[in-house]
Amino acid sequence: MMTEQEIADLRALMAYEKQRTAPPESFPHLPDLPGGRYIDARFEALERDHLWRKSWLLAGHRDELPQPGCFRLWETAGQPVVLMHARSGKINAFYNTCSHRGAPVVTAESGRRPRLTCKYHGWVYDDEGQLMSIRDAEDFAGLDFSCRALRSIRCETYGKFIFVNFSEDGPNLSEWLGNLGSELEEFQLGEARLVDRYVWDLDCNWKIAMEANMEVYHVPNIHPSTVALGLDHRSNVNTLYSQGHGRMVAPGWEDRDQASYRTGRTADGRPEFDTVGEISRTCTQSYNIFPNLVSPPGATGTFILAFWPNGLTRSKMEVFWVGPDWGEGPRPAYWDDTIAFLNSVLEEDTQFGSWIQKSQMSYGFKGVPLSYQEARIYHWHQSVDRLIGPEKIPQDLSTPAAIGADWIHPNDPRLPLARAAVTEPAE
Ligand code: FES
Ligand SMILES: [Fe+2]
Repeated sequence: MMTEQEIADLRALMAYEKQRTAPPESFPHLPDLPGGRYIDARFEALERDHLWRKSWLLAGHRDELPQPGCFRLWETAGQPVVLMHARSGKINAFYNTCSHRGAPVVTAESGRRPRLTCKYHGWVYDDEGQLMSIRDAEDFAGLDFSCRALRSIRCETYGKFIFVNFSEDGPNLSEWLGNLGSELEEFQLGEARLVDRYVWDLDCNWKIAMEANMEVYHVPNIHPSTVALGLDHRSNVNTLYSQGHGRMVAPGWEDRDQASYRTGRTADGRPEFDTVGEISRTCTQSYNIFPNLVSPPGATGTFILAFWPNGLTRSKMEVFWVGPDWGEGPRPAYWDDTIAFLNSVLEEDTQFGSWIQKSQMSYGFKGVPLSYQEARIYHWHQSVDRLIGPEKIPQDLSTPAAIGADWIHPNDPRLPLARAAVTEPAE
């Protein structure tokens, strides 16, 4: 939950942003992002070896694995993974790689079985990945079963969302999420039920697609008859978190009827999480969760967008929808309206992806200048470089750490100015 103080500070910051006529004095100059970060195979390899290897990645939702024995194949991150609901109640993740000669232990998308049996020669593993039995064991003299378990992958949950991490060390999920873990509690992601999950294939680099959802500078142009009706982008407040995450909070318009825009989100009679506070109810409150998630959580439902590379020039945008339980039966019709509305907004957001991709691969593209309004994108890139290790990044592809600790939550140089403006309103 946000405290009263945090809510008051956000209100003050929104008012501050609305009246400022230049970026705050202490905000640094942002060097251009090198164009090669989007199109150069060297950077793609660095992302693969570091970003996708060392980050906590959203792999699924517990409602997809409701009972012990339920399993699901997950290959979106480019690794063959089996998620399995164990009898212990925990969700385990293994490589779908038999310890004998690498055949799959699962070939179905999903299913339920108490043990995983390799199709090739019949080795059998339990729901913790332990090797239980092998055919013709007498011909494997001295085989130590305890060394031949399925290779496990770190797997933790936040709420009912399942995350995996291919690195054997590094922070746990709660350290990774940092502040966001407690800040998102009011949205009850441990209670919310999975409503839908679907994927869009996009013809652009995954970062082009994701960055369309990490700033509100585009809102008046791209979303004139949808998002722009309910969001005053000049009042937007970006907050940067140390792990590379970011948040935006922007109010609606003081002087406009926003009913038409808000219909999709607050239709009468829908179940709500009453723990959700006033900022989410009256503003657009959205998070980018490092490295590849974007989510505006809400009282009647939350969606999470997950962006994945599909080669250098294509990507996948995955949409998870969760919301309060509606009881028995199929999902109520309001969900169809809500999801259709989001999809129409996503059509707007993704419309230039393939065009931008073409431009970025042309002789004419060199780099990206970012404004103060787009600070979350720069912060994301400099956080990527920190994760990779700046010394590993060729000079022509690197993003200097221009944004200093003074801009990282809970530090915020705007706050004293914004608070002062509230106590001493200008004449
Ligand atoms: S590869 Fe699995 S049993 Fe041989
Ligand atoms: Fe957008």
